[in-house]
Amino acid sequence: MKKGITATHRPQWKTHIGFLLAAIGSAIGLGNIWRFPYLCYKNGGGAFLIPYFLALVIVGIPFMILEIGLGHKMRGSAPASCAGVSSRWEWLGWWQVIFVMFGIVLYYSVIVAWCFYYLLLSFGLKWGADPNAFFFNDFLMISESPFEVGNIRLPILFSLAVVWFLNWFIVFRGVEKGLEKANKLFMPLLLFLILVLVGWSISLPGSSEGIGVYLKPDFERLKDIGVWIDAVSQIFFTLSLGFGILVAYASYLPKKSQIVKDSVTISVANCFFSLLAGVAVFSIVGYMAHELSVPVDKVVSKSIGLAFVVFPTAIGMLPAFSQLFGVLFFGCLVIAGLSSSVSILEAFTSSAIDKFHYSRKTLVSVLAVAGFFGSTIFASQGGLFWLDIVDHFLTQYGLVLAGILECILIGWIYKAHVLRKHINSVSQLRLLSWWDYAVKIVIPATLVVILVNGFIKEVASPYEGYPWLAIVLIGRDWVILTLFLAMIVAARPWKDYQE
Ligand code: PHE
Repeated sequence: MKKGITATHRPQWKTHIGFLLAAIGSAIGLGNIWRFPYLCYKNGGGAFLIPYFLALVIVGIPFMILEIGLGHKMRGSAPASCAGVSSRWEWLGWWQVIFVMFGIVLYYSVIVAWCFYYLLLSFGLKWGADPNAFFFNDFLMISESPFEVGNIRLPILFSLAVVWFLNWFIVFRGVEKGLEKANKLFMPLLLFLILVLVGWSISLPGSSEGIGVYLKPDFERLKDIGVWIDAVSQIFFTLSLGFGILVAYASYLPKKSQIVKDSVTISVANCFFSLLAGVAVFSIVGYMAHELSVPVDKVVSKSIGLAFVVFPTAIGMLPAFSQLFGVLFFGCLVIAGLSSSVSILEAFTSSAIDKFHYSRKTLVSVLAVAGFFGSTIFASQGGLFWLDIVDHFLTQYGLVLAGILECILIGWIYKAHVLRKHINSVSQLRLLSWWDYAVKIVIPATLVVILVNGFIKEVASPYEGYPWLAIVLIGRDWVILTLFLAMIVAARPWKDYQE
């Protein structure tokens, strides 16, 4: 029997909207709320929307069609789908799901755990008068360098247990009763919360200056290749591409599926959410600048600083209902983060079930415990350094490399037009031949540019000035280790079904 063709054993989404919401849930994550607004601001404001939407149309949507089409055609998770194309490529699928399961989700859950803890702290604004000192000194108790791991921070460990419990609870219950149900609750709730946040924050004094700074176009910035690279990387990360997640989600779709239309819907919903989140974030930043009578660029900060320092400070200045504002904001982050982390867990779970036929319940329980323990390194006093380095390497190299290889596998070995034919045979909206070129040439070429450019920068100076030894031991070796593990798992024999 062909690997991965496990139709009779495969769970299915109960409803089409269930699939859409789960895929949107995976896409919308921490990256939309804290990464996109800052990137946009840094890279030319409104002008950044040009490379961003070009990247969406040229790279994002075609790649999503590839992943959904592949999972649908092969009816299998990433390793099963890669093996379905050529057994020599099975390792690629394993690599994708292993480096998200034993990489990205480990630190991603820690950030969700911080958000959860800050959600609790919002009741009573417990971060006090100096949120910066509170975050780094009291909460993280950050050490001097990545080599000084220090102790595990108990507040983080506690929240981490909650996050992993929720991850476990959702994926344990399976596709329909777990993922589908959770996302049917999470996504409308998230939309509601963000709309309340947007409405509230734009009513604050100074919000229009904030939004102005966020969106004011600076077309000069577009001359910088770094801006274009940021746009493509962000599209890749935000749409959860290259992780094997959408392949697994698509394998639970029924035969007749709207692959092209769904890809467009998921991508547009995700990017629309990012824009909305940006309005909320910059309105409140504008409000804070207004209160402090300083220019907006003096108060904005990137990612972690934005969510855990700037936001708590701004929340503390609100005249009324400030605690509620904190709960709404961190609640959004927790929900967005959870719906993404469960998708990672599912990508790995479905892969292992496809190949080894483990029982979902046992497997997910083991994975959740392993994930919890694996995350603890990032919950230590040196955890933030580790998180930063591992994130940089996995997303800059692992993810991009996996994306390139996926394009080669599907574009050249399986042949793009063969998959396109399958997609067109099941969905109404027809995919034209330009897609073949996107998959075979445009996307891999773009990704190669990103990879080479990143590498040149890396060699010129170590990432964020970390010691070389830390970069090599933590970053590079993490990528290599996951690759090694993938090769081993791929070499194991497939378990046959007793039909
Ligand atoms: N798309 C998610 C975000 O923007 C990130 C993510 C990473 C999702 C890894 C799943 C897996 O935050």
